[in-house]
Amino acid sequence: MTDEIPDIDLAVHGRTEHRREVLKKLAGGIAGSALLGTLPWFAPLQAAPAGGAPSDRVRVGIIGPGSRGQFLLEHLLHTPAVEIAALCDVYQPHLDDGQRAIGKPVAQYKDYRRLLEDTSIDAVVIATPLYLHAPMCLAAFDAGKSVYCEKSLALTIDDCKAVARAAANSTKTFQIGHQRLFHRSTLYALKQVMAGDLGPITQIRAYWHRNTAWRRPVPSADLEALFNWRLYRKYSAGLMTELASHHLHVANWFLDAHPLACVGYGSINYWKDGRDVFDNVNVIYKYPKGVSFVYDSLSSNRFYGLEVQLLGPKGTLELETAKYYSENPPPAPGIVQLINQIEKGTLEAVPIGGPSWVPDLKKDTKGTPLPEDPDRDDGTGLSLAAFVNAVRLGRRAPYMIDHAYRSGVAALMGVMAMEEQREVQWPGNYSA
Ligand SMILES: NC(=O)c1ccc[n+]([C@@H]2O[C@H](COP(=O)([O-])OP(=O)(O)OC[C@H]3O[C@@H](n4cnc5c(N)ncnc54)[C@H](O)[C@@H]3O)[C@@H](O)[C@H]2O)c1
Repeated sequence: MTDEIPDIDLAVHGRTEHRREVLKKLAGGIAGSALLGTLPWFAPLQAAPAGGAPSDRVRVGIIGPGSRGQFLLEHLLHTPAVEIAALCDVYQPHLDDGQRAIGKPVAQYKDYRRLLEDTSIDAVVIATPLYLHAPMCLAAFDAGKSVYCEKSLALTIDDCKAVARAAANSTKTFQIGHQRLFHRSTLYALKQVMAGDLGPITQIRAYWHRNTAWRRPVPSADLEALFNWRLYRKYSAGLMTELASHHLHVANWFLDAHPLACVGYGSINYWKDGRDVFDNVNVIYKYPKGVSFVYDSLSSNRFYGLEVQLLGPKGTLELETAKYYSENPPPAPGIVQLINQIEKGTLEAVPIGGPSWVPDLKKDTKGTPLPEDPDRDDGTGLSLAAFVNAVRLGRRAPYMIDHAYRSGVAALMGVMAMEEQREVQWPGNYSA
């Protein structure tokens, strides 16, 4: 498979087998294509591999080795040039989990400010609840660390601006945990959009539906906020920051724009269990050129699951199921057409002399699959590898600030629109 990729030198992983792995992840027309040149976040992956010198090692501290933090830790343990130097968490069992995964003793902290005082640590990975992203990012930049911060950027628009400004003013690397930037089938979809396979994008629709309380069992009542922070507005902005931010990120990226305004409705219509974030959200964003992004998320029905759909006059891309649907697919072979006609005859045939109306039901064409990552990596592995390489090479990543800022702010605009029952305008750039 790697033979199909002629002209790229991705040296993120020093070892040959890892290099091949990276190439495989990008195969399917991405690795050797001109598209990569338009994705500056891939540049750190193209640098010379790390050698064995101590200066080639990146010493990383992980703040918040909970659910996501553990997942990032597992990836980092397989990323060459990384040394996990410290863990920080207020909850001892999570420190213990992290320590076990690393397999050798590392410094442990309960207070992140103590970790930041360690001058031998180059970078921190922040995977804590949303309300802590801003104070932790700001303190990390103050301490001269590079920062990989999980999405969404921050709990308030003012905090988004403050973190974006601090990242822009820092000489260190900043990266946001929007792993779709490195996701193979998403990149392939971008290539199709750039090739004109949809025509212009005229609408984006996205949804994320689950049938779950989103509530974690707590070992004792005093741990409710620590475990279930997502359900409380003081710590989280709920479905918009936790789920929608991913699809808003895709919309901003693919439209190369930020939303101009939005309106929406949300409520708690099912999980009346003491939470104060909405259990269903419905927001419409206005983008330039008259394009809308229509989003909804439900916690009481999972039939439709999650999807982000890019729609244009020539076709549709569904990024979560990784499929392209042409508006005018080539005709199916004769026998398939016949079976379809027999199966659907009552719906699609227009009887002679009858009404000339055919229901506009969803097309059931199978679509063309987009190339998927062979290891089902959603981009997180490459994302961390790019971050580590950027830190090792002393490179900043200014484009990341815009990705983080636009999606973080867009998610919060949706929350404000629903909570304040008004149209919310884009609040301006972080340097404004
Ligand atoms: N990119 C993705 O696809 C993705 C997926 C899941 C979660 N996330 C993000 O990752 C972040 C964490 O989510 P999670 O599901 O892992 O939450 P979690 O509750 O499982 O983990 C958070 C961790 O932070 C710790 N913590 C809380 N307060 C702390 C403090 N003051 N100092 C140090 N540690 C503290 C908690 O004890 C816990 O270990 C969130 O921002 C979430 O949006 C991103």
